[in-house]
Amino acid sequence: MTTLTTAPRPAGSRVAGLGHYQPPTVVTNADIIARGVETSDEWIQSRVGIAERRFAMDETMLDMAEAASSKALANSGIAATDIDLVILATCTSEQQVPGGAATLASRLGIAAPGAYDLNAACAGFVYGLTSASNAIIAGQARNVLVVGSEKLTDYVDLFDRSTGIIFADGAGAAVVTVSDSARIGPVVWGSDGDNADAIVTDPVSVTLRQEGQTVFRWATSTMGGVAARACAAAGIEPSDLAGFVPHQANLRIIDLVAKRLGAANAVVARDIVTSGNTSSASIPLALSKMLERGEIGSGTPVLLVGFGAGLTYAAQVILAP
Ligand SMILES: CC(C)(COP(=O)(O)OP(=O)(O)OC[C@H]1O[C@@H](n2cnc3c(N)ncnc32)[C@H](O)[C@@H]1OP(=O)(O)O)[C@@H](O)C(=O)NCCC(=O)NCCS
Repeated sequence: MTTLTTAPRPAGSRVAGLGHYQPPTVVTNADIIARGVETSDEWIQSRVGIAERRFAMDETMLDMAEAASSKALANSGIAATDIDLVILATCTSEQQVPGGAATLASRLGIAAPGAYDLNAACAGFVYGLTSASNAIIAGQARNVLVVGSEKLTDYVDLFDRSTGIIFADGAGAAVVTVSDSARIGPVVWGSDGDNADAIVTDPVSVTLRQEGQTVFRWATSTMGGVAARACAAAGIEPSDLAGFVPHQANLRIIDLVAKRLGAANAVVARDIVTSGNTSSASIPLALSKMLERGEIGSGTPVLLVGFGAGLTYAAQVILAP
């Protein structure tokens, strides 16, 4: 029988470094009210947890992806020329065709890598991280750049009370590389296409709308179990987590899921307070800032949980770089 040669496989994969970028323009709740949106600072802070967010004025989605990637590369110690796969998680592409990953690679000076865009909305970064790790473990890549970048303000009606006060812009990136032991745990992922209508872009106006309560109920009833399964799959007790970085959609969801999980000793990401909801960028953005502030020690377990439109979700434990 004919068999085919497979690529040599390393023992595992690891995150070597992260980086992030946020546009300089800060938009407070007072700024939103001043635009004429019928809301209040008290309502936004108590129901969603956001005090301010960043809007990209001059930057494109790819500009932000490039800035975050440059920092991730510098922090990883891996040269751009050694990257052999680029995965760009985004749901706010500037163009339907071409995808942005190849252009991003070209801008960063990465020669001819595998390159593709991935749209799993707010779960996109964790799907990308899993895909990167799987490619490495299968021997198909050695150094992978994974980016979550979003310019949601291009797709949001800033006067829609359910989305205009929540969504924002930014990017986060990670360099993933070979490792002599497993430092990225198994993924727990899934979807619920029966509820696809809960978060959609309107086919005519191309603006985002969401059934907030449907998503809220789904996230709070499901994500605690998904998070616990990701810990179990990695052989980690929730109480052993040093960090918990869920998608930054709503502070009440973050706190409820953290409580249900029992991540009593983890530093919980609450970046939504100053960054809003940046979809696929929210997890690498929050994690990169936590590492920069020294809140999570190198080599300690951190749980990532992404969830959003689709509906889609993905969770996994990593050891911090
Ligand atoms: C969107 C979300 C913040 C809305 O909060 P909510 O508590 O569900 O709000 P509701 O839509 O039920 O509205 C409750 C009340 O607040 C009012 N309200 C809604 N938006 C408001 C706003 N921006 N400012 C002030 N009042 C508002 C409503 O009119 C309603 O008033 P009423 O009780 O007098 O009728 C919340 O549902 C949410 O975060 N959902 C999850 C979203 C998510 O995770 N998305 C993931 C995709 S990335």
